[in-house]
Amino acid sequence: MSGRRILVTSALPYANGDIHIGHLVEYIRSDVWVRFQKLRGENCRHFCADDTHGAAITISAKKKGVTEEEFIAEVNKSHRADFAGFGVEFDNYGSTNSPQTRRFCELFWKKLREGGYVVEREIEQLYDPIEGRFLADRFVRGTCPKCGRKDQYGDGCECGHVYSPMDLIDPKSALSGATPELRKSMHLFVEIEKARDFLQDWVDNSGALQPEVANFLKGQFLSDDLRPWDISRPAPYFGFEIPDAPGNYWYVWFDAPIGYIGSTCEWCEKNGEKVEDWWLDPSTEIHHFIGKDITYFHTLFWPTSLRAAGFNLPTKVRVHGFLTVNGEKMSKSKGTFILARTYLKWLDPSYLRYFFSSKTSSSVDDLDLNLEEMELKVNADLVGVVVNLASRTAKFANLTGLSDVYPDDGGLFAEAAGKSEEIAAAYEECEYGKAIRIALECGYRANQYVESNAPWTLKKEWSALEKDESASQEARDAAKKKLMDVVTVSLNLFRQIVVYLAPILPDLAKKTEKLLNTKITGWDDVQKPLLGSKVNEYEHMMTRVPREGIESMIEESKSDLQRDVPQTTPLTANDSSNEAEKPGIAPWFDSDAPLAEEPLSETISIDDFMKVDLRVGRIVEAEQVKEARKLLKLKISLGGTQTRQVFAGIKAAYPEPEKLIGRLVVFVANLQPRQMKFGLSEGMVVASGPGGPDVFLTFPDEGAKPGMRLH
Ligand code: 2FM
Ligand code: ZN
Repeated sequence: MSGRRILVTSALPYANGDIHIGHLVEYIRSDVWVRFQKLRGENCRHFCADDTHGAAITISAKKKGVTEEEFIAEVNKSHRADFAGFGVEFDNYGSTNSPQTRRFCELFWKKLREGGYVVEREIEQLYDPIEGRFLADRFVRGTCPKCGRKDQYGDGCECGHVYSPMDLIDPKSALSGATPELRKSMHLFVEIEKARDFLQDWVDNSGALQPEVANFLKGQFLSDDLRPWDISRPAPYFGFEIPDAPGNYWYVWFDAPIGYIGSTCEWCEKNGEKVEDWWLDPSTEIHHFIGKDITYFHTLFWPTSLRAAGFNLPTKVRVHGFLTVNGEKMSKSKGTFILARTYLKWLDPSYLRYFFSSKTSSSVDDLDLNLEEMELKVNADLVGVVVNLASRTAKFANLTGLSDVYPDDGGLFAEAAGKSEEIAAAYEECEYGKAIRIALECGYRANQYVESNAPWTLKKEWSALEKDESASQEARDAAKKKLMDVVTVSLNLFRQIVVYLAPILPDLAKKTEKLLNTKITGWDDVQKPLLGSKVNEYEHMMTRVPREGIESMIEESKSDLQRDVPQTTPLTANDSSNEAEKPGIAPWFDSDAPLAEEPLSETISIDDFMKVDLRVGRIVEAEQVKEARKLLKLKISLGGTQTRQVFAGIKAAYPEPEKLIGRLVVFVANLQPRQMKFGLSEGMVVASGPGGPDVFLTFPDEGAKPGMRLH
């Protein structure tokens, strides 16, 4: 096979739960990318597997009264069905609990040992005396030591505080309710600090990372010593036993990414390929698609392991953000924690593939699924523009067939064909929203063509001549030819758009193949019109999004039986409510643009700073200044009877001033009062941001009182 050899992986879903629409952000993103590469003729393969190890699996299997192996086999079936339902295709979908993955774990382990990365240490951990096992952070609940909230996970509280389970007040085992005991055990660690120079260079210079990801790693991890990675768990543990440390198992996060190689290997064995070609040949590209919550596993530990084992490093780690639904975290009570299978019961998967893609870019930004917006967008773009081209012309083409010579279309076909590389570049960069926009512009022009050439009128004229006995055969043929030319243009323009959108809408592509009696063979199909062939009878290609379908899906999701949704870990594309040592709060990917735009000021002394009298104030009145475009008039209380009036340029950012009433702000209390056109301004509220709607007031933390000084 020719073309670039490209290996693509999607994060392995944890075998402890169902696939939900949060996961699909990732799998649709990677599936579209792979389909695009395949359509371009590249030798691209997509590998994934279930992530099957860890204590959480044992607990779930026990609850169901089955063995771990039986449990993960069932989950594997249901994951496969969910992916197939959404048209997400893998060249191999395996399991980390495979002989192939075990073999590569052993190899990686040997190399890490030889490289001097592995050290042994005794650690203290909470132990459940009833269950007879050590407890991962997620399996300890207790009261937050910072804010006092009850029933918080062992790794972090809803308040954002991150701690170790030992810090919890009154900790309890989530498995048995027992009070855990502190016990010592031997653990093996990988010292990734040893790979610092390599990692620093890789993060800076490999081009594998989005800029915000590289900055995140430099700011959050590489600026300090890299903590040794605790890679072993004492028995009992569902996983692979470490050959040279009997009674100890590799931690699930050690074998999870190695599962990418195990899955590749399974495929190689079935297809007469060599795994070395895919993981060791430097000309092979490796692209990992992941959610931002697992960035550090893939960008620090994984490259360290790959390098130690002598494997290729990732060409790109393509990180995406989290999913929100209607602007909020997915929520079971609101019915927005939607399982893949529940969605499929009510709605066409093409809707979600299209909507997610329209919102997909190369950035790490979160993606919001606004269900009303999805309905409007699909109805307008797909039903109203794309499918409309076929539905309005195919029935005529069924009568006429397509012309033998491509008619004059005023340059429309050539224009759309000319967009090919621009659209391809957008796909390559995961800028699917952009690819869609360009394809749709072709669609608008094509619809204008249909409107102005009105094939329905041409059909009437032709039919009239057919009925008119006095009409000549030539006149009839000419009328038919006119209609045939118009539908030939329309359907060829339609076909181009379908090819452009085929990675996103494979189902539409299949229906188009059936309609036009042709196969879509590659990206370059857009360059050559389809001519002289017959067109089949038109069958429905896509219906408008049914509002009742959305409503039923939400209702049903409220009652879907699911595992508890963790409160502290954001629901992510790869929401692995496993025992992963992930931070309890979302990683932040802050850009360096604000600092670049406005560099830090010169150093000042504390005395200089103290000249500014910053106080906590409470907004007690807030109203629009009608005559002023930008201003709100605020009355700030500094406690007691002390109030100040200020005019603040925050109208665009806070268009409903009444919502500010009662809030605490930071107030510059000793600023020279200023007479303005609308009255006296006696200070300033502190805010950040460039201006207009992007102004953000600074709010003091709970507990601060008006009049308190900031220092
Ligand atoms: O976060 C998760 O859901 C993990 N199961 C992802 C593993 S990806 C890879 F490393 F295998
Ligand atoms: Zn707390």
